[in-house]
Amino acid sequence: MRKENTRNLIDIRDLSTKEIDDLIKVANDIILHKEAYAHKCDGKILATLFFEPSTRTRLSFESAMLRLGGKVLGFSEAASSSTAKGETLADTIETVSGYADIIAMRHPKEGAPIVAAKKSFIPIINAGDGGHNHPTQTLTDLLTISRKKGRLENLTIGLCGDLKFGRTIHSLISAMVRYKNIKFILISPKELRLPEYMIKEVLDKNKIEYIETDNMEKYMKDLDILYMTRVQKERFFNEEDYMRLKDYYILDKKKLSTAKEDLCIMHPLPRVNEIATEVDEDERATYFEQAYNGVYIRMALILKCLEGRK
Ligand code: NCD
Repeated sequence: MRKENTRNLIDIRDLSTKEIDDLIKVANDIILHKEAYAHKCDGKILATLFFEPSTRTRLSFESAMLRLGGKVLGFSEAASSSTAKGETLADTIETVSGYADIIAMRHPKEGAPIVAAKKSFIPIINAGDGGHNHPTQTLTDLLTISRKKGRLENLTIGLCGDLKFGRTIHSLISAMVRYKNIKFILISPKELRLPEYMIKEVLDKNKIEYIETDNMEKYMKDLDILYMTRVQKERFFNEEDYMRLKDYYILDKKKLSTAKEDLCIMHPLPRVNEIATEVDEDERATYFEQAYNGVYIRMALILKCLEGRK
């Protein structure tokens, strides 16, 4: 039980810029030399505890551990775990700590991974907590941006859709503010604007330039990256509001007519309606590549969190 030196990833700010750079370097190396990493985690077990739905995050974590030679166990919905019988998260975590070497968990409650980390004797990776954070999606995004653009500095980034509940947005902003000359265009209906705490505590505090608008077309020509997001249905209090806002932005070929030739169109996925499928054939569409990159950066992260542990 070596709790003192357990390395968790709860918030993207848990990682220094140097550590992020190193993770990107390792992920790039894995992409080039997959076979060299095939036994790095022999004998290790990853537990994926998903109390909320997921395709990419859970499967890419599992794929990452399997590709490192390790094994995986876990559950993909709260209903199939003892949570359904009333077990607390703390008790579940305490138990799983004894069954695995590292845990990736997703939970609908903001802050749940902090509770988990207090109980756990093995590293906890936050794979999404409510409408709060999603640091491993951000690592995937940073790897993708650095591979496509060759830099993480000097970028005008359009973030579009549900900026209020979109945890991928919150983590991505929290990561990008550390790089030089980053400007955000925050594109959303007024009901789904970026939360005040993100504006004050993250953007203003870091003196980051940003524009809030509901007009995607107006700023299209300025963007280096357009990061689309789904309206987060599961976080709405009423169906009516969701129905009214869900198709507010639908990116199509026509709306891209003024965009830069090297625009990078990203989306954490799943997509509902916010990007027309006709955009998929556009060379600037990067979202599936982004999903593939998720495996390699998670491999790098698992290696980092398990470093030096018996
Ligand atoms: C995102 C999430 O779960 O926050 N998905 C993902 O992990 N790739 C985005 C979303 O669900 O809209």
